[in-house]
Amino acid sequence: MGRVGFGVAVGCAVLTCAIAAALVGKRARSRRRWWRAVEVVREFEEGCDTPVGRLRQVVDAMAVEMHAGLASDGGSKLKMLLTFVDALPDGNEEGIYYALDLGGTNFRVLRVQLGGKVSRILNHQVESQPVPQELMNGTSENLFDFIALTLKDFVERENDGFQQKKDDGRALGFTFSFPIRQISVSSGALIKWTKGFSIEDAVGQDVAHLLQEAITKRGLTMQVAVLVNDTVGTLALGHYYDQDTVAAVIIGTGTNACYVERVDAIIKCQGLYTNSGVMVVNMEWGNFWSSHLPRTSYDIALDDESPNPNDQGFEKMISGMYLGEIARTVLLRVAHESDIFGDATQNLSVPFSLSTPLMAAMHEDNSPDLSQVRGILEENLQMSDTSLKARKLIVRVCDIVTRRAARLVAAGIVGILKKIGRDGSGGGNSGKTKSRPRRTVIAIEGGLYVSYSIFREYLNEALVEILGEDVAQNVILRVSEDGSGNGAALLAAAYSSDR
Ligand code: BGC
Repeated sequence: MGRVGFGVAVGCAVLTCAIAAALVGKRARSRRRWWRAVEVVREFEEGCDTPVGRLRQVVDAMAVEMHAGLASDGGSKLKMLLTFVDALPDGNEEGIYYALDLGGTNFRVLRVQLGGKVSRILNHQVESQPVPQELMNGTSENLFDFIALTLKDFVERENDGFQQKKDDGRALGFTFSFPIRQISVSSGALIKWTKGFSIEDAVGQDVAHLLQEAITKRGLTMQVAVLVNDTVGTLALGHYYDQDTVAAVIIGTGTNACYVERVDAIIKCQGLYTNSGVMVVNMEWGNFWSSHLPRTSYDIALDDESPNPNDQGFEKMISGMYLGEIARTVLLRVAHESDIFGDATQNLSVPFSLSTPLMAAMHEDNSPDLSQVRGILEENLQMSDTSLKARKLIVRVCDIVTRRAARLVAAGIVGILKKIGRDGSGGGNSGKTKSRPRRTVIAIEGGLYVSYSIFREYLNEALVEILGEDVAQNVILRVSEDGSGNGAALLAAAYSSDR
């Protein structure tokens, strides 16, 4: 081989080595980036861990806070609000009643015809529409006028299939799903807004009165007969169909629970008297807090950036308003630290660009190549060309967020059961002796439970883990369809003077 040939051969060898080294380097870098992505997710998973021991600590904390909230106003982050509902509908209610349901993603108007014990709910009509964003942050006058107008329009339209008798009253149940301090079953002052509403001038005002004024101004003759939280409406409908229903839970845009409490346990209101000896208490559990909750840096950041920092801590780990957002911030961190999602991640940096329904749809994608995940990423976040590996990691993040939320709800529910002595431990209101487990029904409503099957499975699974098979089989979670609205109409029937 001549000198030139030798030189060429050496040159080629060097080039080949350089290319090979570059390739190896690239592969090593990409592997490192991948492992970094996995590491971020693994750390998040660790932070969200909810072994049964921790869930039991949450159960105990919930029961302790319930006692504290009942002992004095401000005694706990759990407000344990009185509702003045001391009797739940029993099926004897008759006539046509209306309800307004404000506080979830949609605003609803309902007309319900009740046929007494035999026929129960004979007919019902619902109309639903999103609350315009500008009304959620405007003035109370605009909000209540919008509600009154929608109601008027609904009332004046045909009521096909409803047999209105001449003397049918026009009693209205108002479901208002925010914390209110009630002084009667039909009046109460707004304590604070949650779930992204912030209409400053309404805080401290009697919202039933604001609604009544707006209705009258619009020329409608209708009486706000009851003002209830959505959990209370849900409990009322649940109890209407099944008298073993003692509590209700909402897991939708926001989260909360209410239950039937003995009045003598409501220490902060000494002298409170009801014929039944009980009253429904609105816990406002969205504001529950305990050091046992598995809180991550993502939760802290979400809280810091929210309009209500240090508020609604439990809700921010559980409800539909926040789950997609938690997943988004984890994925954004993955994107920053690993670029496994490619370059097009600008949309992932937009707060709330990943809604909880989209997150749930990705989580429930059963296709082998996660084509639904790919579609959602492309359409909603403009993230194209993701690898299957990357999509699997995204599904894992959705799973971690959802599993933690569902298991915490289960712990919250057992906390209530413990407080009322139905968790099989023999404590709570039932006294010290261990009694035979009683059939206990919890009415439940909200998109996370009703439409998200993995969430539901995780919740049910955790209930069994905490309570054990024997006790858990006596605890029935029963969906109370449209309970918040229908239940308010039932309560309007039960509490209106023309009963
Ligand atoms: C509100 C509760 C409500 C729950 C579910 C929370 O944000 O504070 O009053 O029951 O959402 O809608």
